[in-house]
Amino acid sequence: MDKNKLYIIAVDGPAGAGKSTVCSDVAKKLGILHLDTGATYRTFALGLIKKGIDASDSDAIKNILNDINISIEFENNTQIMYLDGVNVNGMIRTNEVSAAASACAVIPEVRLKMVDLQRQTAQKISMIVDGRDICTYVFPDAPYKFYITADVSERAKRRAAQLAEKGIVSDIEQLEKEIAARDHNDMNRKMAPLRIADDAVLIDTTHMTQKEVVDKVLSYIKL
Ligand code: CDP
Repeated sequence: MDKNKLYIIAVDGPAGAGKSTVCSDVAKKLGILHLDTGATYRTFALGLIKKGIDASDSDAIKNILNDINISIEFENNTQIMYLDGVNVNGMIRTNEVSAAASACAVIPEVRLKMVDLQRQTAQKISMIVDGRDICTYVFPDAPYKFYITADVSERAKRRAAQLAEKGIVSDIEQLEKEIAARDHNDMNRKMAPLRIADDAVLIDTTHMTQKEVVDKVLSYIKL
């Protein structure tokens, strides 16, 4: 592949499979950017919470769709999410926002708005893009596609460790339930549900270290 050509590496997988950390490592190694599309749904969900709108109230959400202004910037190669012009990176990782993001992501109008933003962002520069519908819907023509997953109990353990790093103590059983509920939402929604694209490389990371996963992804990229 021509080194100067723009390319997209598309990565899908369920909640807590470690996609984000793997993708940001791969991006650093290749000198490209990492677009975390989950952050767009999280930012939209935060906008709903701020307006006091229930994330599953599709009628109310359709009415205010254009009143929530989201933009993505990259500063020092790091993705910054802006909600109405304010950097909200520090506010979109709470459990409340996770649950609201998962609920509003089933609404087709919300997805179309987020997908539009994601496609615009990845137009000018090569990127590794992670989400739930990247291989199947957002960038079906991407030259590289991966599906990264792990057992639900392992994903809950990893999420607990991530939270522990931030000083948050969590109940693993509860986390496992929340992750399973989000899997259910993602896999059963009508529009662009989470599924393995026919042409994606499946990587089950349950018994793999992060470095092993990064190396495995890199081994497929031929520039
Ligand atoms: O990091 P984690 O896997 O917990 O979630 P995330 O990737 O930040 O995504 C937050 C929520 O947005 C998920 O629960 C999905 O329901 C939704 N999402 C989606 O529907 N489509 C995407 N391309 C990315 C995220």
